[in-house]
Amino acid sequence: MVLDRFLVLPLLLSLLFLSLATGLVQDFCVADLSKEDTPAGYPCKPVSEIGYCDFVFSGLATPGNTSNLIKAAVTPAFVSQFPAVNGLSISAARLDLAVGGVIPLHTHPRGSELLVVIEGNITAGLISSSNDVYVAKLHAGDTMIFPQGLLHFQINSGNSPVVAFVSLSSPDPGIQITALSLFSNNLPSEIVEAVTFLDDAEVKKLKKLLGGSG
Ligand SMILES: *[C@@H]1O[C@H](CO)[C@@H](O)[C@H](O)[C@H]1NC(C)=O
Ligand SMILES: *[C@@H]1O[C@H](CO)[C@@H](O)[C@H](O)[C@H]1NC(C)=O
Repeated sequence: MVLDRFLVLPLLLSLLFLSLATGLVQDFCVADLSKEDTPAGYPCKPVSEIGYCDFVFSGLATPGNTSNLIKAAVTPAFVSQFPAVNGLSISAARLDLAVGGVIPLHTHPRGSELLVVIEGNITAGLISSSNDVYVAKLHAGDTMIFPQGLLHFQINSGNSPVVAFVSLSSPDPGIQITALSLFSNNLPSEIVEAVTFLDDAEVKKLKKLLGGSG
């Protein structure tokens, strides 16, 4: 009996987390952002407080501000902005790239990305874990998939602004930009140099550009 209890409790707990994560026992779980996030997502807002507007997000209607170093903006509709995606394996974002704009090499640790080009031309690419490179020129209406966790990038390769939308297979896919990981924090320069084979001058230059120290 004692053994049973030890077996049943973890089973029940994992079923609970599974159902939170996949919505098996309820239609939806709109996030209550005032509560603590958990590995299975946020706790649910009470159904009695939910209306149609919980399921609508208008934040992607507005172009992002591209007056920045990368001449580009990512406007997210992840769980923090759009609580209705909580517990569902989906979210979205809008990409705006001014002429010359670039979304630098990055990964989404928790989701695959489906990109749809609405306006302009994009040169996009991904690098597989065997370091094979797949680069494509995309035009309005083209769709490209970037599998979970793989390094990828988008460049405005045309002569007018780019608008694109992406959907990601996680309510909170995360975004890790390689250049920022290396040069915008306090990882000591000698370590950055050792792990990248870049020389000291180049590392210091990039740290200065991207706000890193050390
Ligand atoms: C866009 O960002 C720049 C730089 O931060 C800022 O100066 C400018 O006012 C912003 N433009 C808009 C429309 O918010
Ligand atoms: C996009 O590419 C096509 C084909 O290369 C070209 O005809 C068109 O002018 C380009 N559009 C922009 C906005 O650069």
